[in-house]
Amino acid sequence: MVAAPNINIQKVETSKLHSLSLANLPFGKYFTDHMLEADYEDGEWKNIEIKPYQPLLLEPSVAAIHYGQAIFEGIKAYKDKKGNCYIFRPLDNLKRFNISAERMQMPAIPEDIFMEGLRQLINIDKNWIPDQADHSLYIRPFMFSTDPFLGVKPSDTYKFMIILSPTGPYYSKPMRIYVEEKYTRAAPGGIGFTKAAANYGASLLPTEEAKKKGYDQVLWTDAAEHKYVQEIGTMNVFFVIGDKAYTPELESGTILAGVTRDSVITILQDMGIEVIEKSISIDEIIDAHRAGNLREVFGTGTAATISPICELRYEDYVIKFDTDKWKVSPEIKERLDAIRSCEAADTHGWMYKI
Ligand code: COI
Repeated sequence: MVAAPNINIQKVETSKLHSLSLANLPFGKYFTDHMLEADYEDGEWKNIEIKPYQPLLLEPSVAAIHYGQAIFEGIKAYKDKKGNCYIFRPLDNLKRFNISAERMQMPAIPEDIFMEGLRQLINIDKNWIPDQADHSLYIRPFMFSTDPFLGVKPSDTYKFMIILSPTGPYYSKPMRIYVEEKYTRAAPGGIGFTKAAANYGASLLPTEEAKKKGYDQVLWTDAAEHKYVQEIGTMNVFFVIGDKAYTPELESGTILAGVTRDSVITILQDMGIEVIEKSISIDEIIDAHRAGNLREVFGTGTAATISPICELRYEDYVIKFDTDKWKVSPEIKERLDAIRSCEAADTHGWMYKI
């Protein structure tokens, strides 16, 4: 049992919700009435408050802007038909947040602040949870360094915040993917396993170049040989080959340990499909395709959930799929959606009731 931290609450006088329909929402564009903010000073978290969503006033010298000491998480909240609210696997995101914090030389967030902050914030803004299919309340916890100092060193002060965004699907249609051989997302010893803001900033140029070639995202390959697959854009990747599913292993430290990735592995096992986590070369994928065994390729992530890949291009070799004929990933999505909407039993204890 964790002790409840003292959270100071200041509510809006009038909700903005009346001016927004919670149907057919884009991803991450609208924000709820309130946000959580806490400060790290003198070795402890203080000034924990939930207050109206508003701009921040920061000194232009704050360290995060200059040196990128910034991390974040993505989590989703849902409600069932009776109006009960649930967060999907928040403790797993907290664990990963603190792993990112450690790698970036930032302080950990204690479980009581994270969980009680989430619980109270979502409870206050619960009317913002959409109930349309493929919609949810996207939760964005983040932390950044705030020392007004230009020397390169870990900051002494930080801000932890949570903002909420009622949201629809991140990708609305099957994606076309370009296998990246020039740029690198992550190398062993780097920060590929963290949700550091810098990982996403560095992905923008390669992604824009792939878009100019007519693709939606890149499939990242390893830094040394550009031979082993890592992730797709902002998602983990799965390949269904024959009667097994394959996904890159996490041991190299170059791949994010996705909470959706972990849930998908469990659901595949529930479906009786063996999952193999290993390093996977692009040649193996192509050989499987040539042999007629590559059945499905899909990405997984909190924002993206399950995203089918309809085309994969490696150099001049193009693999195309008719995703309407797929069976495995649609069933995973159906099972995951049923758990999240409380229509199926939560046998793995993933739904945290608020
Ligand atoms: C998420 O899936 O929550 C992510 O962090 C991806 C995000 C960059 C849109």
